[in-house]
Amino acid sequence: MSALTSTCRQFLGAWGLLLGIHFNAHAQLPLTATPTQADDLAFAGSLAGVAKGEKRFLTRQALSEIPGKKVINEGILPSFPKVDLTVLPLAALLEKMPLPPGTDAIMLTCSDRWESVLPIDFIKQYDPYLLLYYDGRTPEQGWPRFSRVEAFAPYFVNVSSKAHPDFKGVIPEGMISATQVIEISAINLKKHYAPFYEGAWGNLSPTANEGRKIFLRNCNNCHEGPGGVGGNTSQRPLLLLQTHATHNEDFFRKMVRRPNDFFPDTLMPPHEHFTEETFGALITFLRETHPSVLGTPTPAPSAKAAEAGGDLSSLRPKYEKINMKRVLLTPEQIQEALTKLPGWKAENGILKKLYVRKNFVEAIAFISALVPDCERMDHHPEIVTVYNKVSIGLTSYDVKNQISTFDVALAERIEALAQLTHPATSAK
Ligand code: HEC
Repeated sequence: MSALTSTCRQFLGAWGLLLGIHFNAHAQLPLTATPTQADDLAFAGSLAGVAKGEKRFLTRQALSEIPGKKVINEGILPSFPKVDLTVLPLAALLEKMPLPPGTDAIMLTCSDRWESVLPIDFIKQYDPYLLLYYDGRTPEQGWPRFSRVEAFAPYFVNVSSKAHPDFKGVIPEGMISATQVIEISAINLKKHYAPFYEGAWGNLSPTANEGRKIFLRNCNNCHEGPGGVGGNTSQRPLLLLQTHATHNEDFFRKMVRRPNDFFPDTLMPPHEHFTEETFGALITFLRETHPSVLGTPTPAPSAKAAEAGGDLSSLRPKYEKINMKRVLLTPEQIQEALTKLPGWKAENGILKKLYVRKNFVEAIAFISALVPDCERMDHHPEIVTVYNKVSIGLTSYDVKNQISTFDVALAERIEALAQLTHPATSAK
């Protein structure tokens, strides 16, 4: 997935050259101010004639009535059967959209918080499409899933292997740009990426400069940058990556090369093709932008917050809750569990461990890394930090403040994350 975006990002360097293409805003699309169907496609990004921060919506039916729709017969991925795909070229859609002046790219936002930026140039050249009907069916009537976790719904943006003679070789065939698109926003690249280049971020060394490009091309869809720019499928704060790159380079390299070694079913793609030079630049970039080096905190997601009317809660990742019952454990079961949890002990109905990190920043990075698992399990440890020490206590309210299956399951996750964020951790 990142490869398509990589290709898109290659156009970033040419900001100044991007043509000020102005699509006609005369269109009379049946845009609505609130969604009318569950799978409406949302439009955002200061649309012309629409109050700032407001969105507009189109139904699948309305999208399929836009001129330019066509039926192609091909497998959306090499491994998929060739079926009739009813697609709307993005260019045809944008022509009808009230894009504000200065728009030189669009951003696709997906329900898994993946973000893809497609410059208008790229759209003109490679003709990516929005999939409306798969074999005549809506997602509700059954669209395929191409992996365990991802579906194509509600909207899917891809580039046809037949759309452009130059396509082959530019983007690996069948490469998917965005699988679960829910929103399209009009953006201006320079404005959009400003937090990456403003203030202290504007004075990086030439090597870090290279690293920034690599980060933008390969990581930013899933790892948010400063100011909340980019996707956040990873649900890992930038500070965690900066901290790994600074204090834990060996793990950083291994994780980036082969993430599956650490998270067997991770969405993060392997980067085994990265050279020494690539790693050097990427690591320099993350080190130089570490708040402890810049002396300023990473800017808050201000632009997005402003768009969301100052309400940050809608920008936070939404974690899917795991539905599991908390079951009280017997003392024997607790003893058994402790044999697999080095450094953990059970005292007065609390499962606990004290972790010692290198310094305060690493202690906080470690705590941040726990958030997704705690939220998914809806289980929240008692955490006490004193400088570089993090003491964690787990107990289950549901079983009268005793130790349950949930405490053990979360302890196992915390232990795994502790190894990842700082393999040398010693228990006290
Ligand atoms: C397709 C999305 C995606 C892309 C692209 C991606 N990552 Fe990740 N990354 C993830 C996810 C998801 C995780 C969390 C592991 C998990 O739970 O699967 C992660 C975790 C990490 C971690 C470990 C953080 C921790 O938990 O301690 C590092 C380091 C990292 N990514 C670096 C990178 C770098 C550098 C790039 C670009 C070269 C990159 N990632 C590209 C999705 C992605």
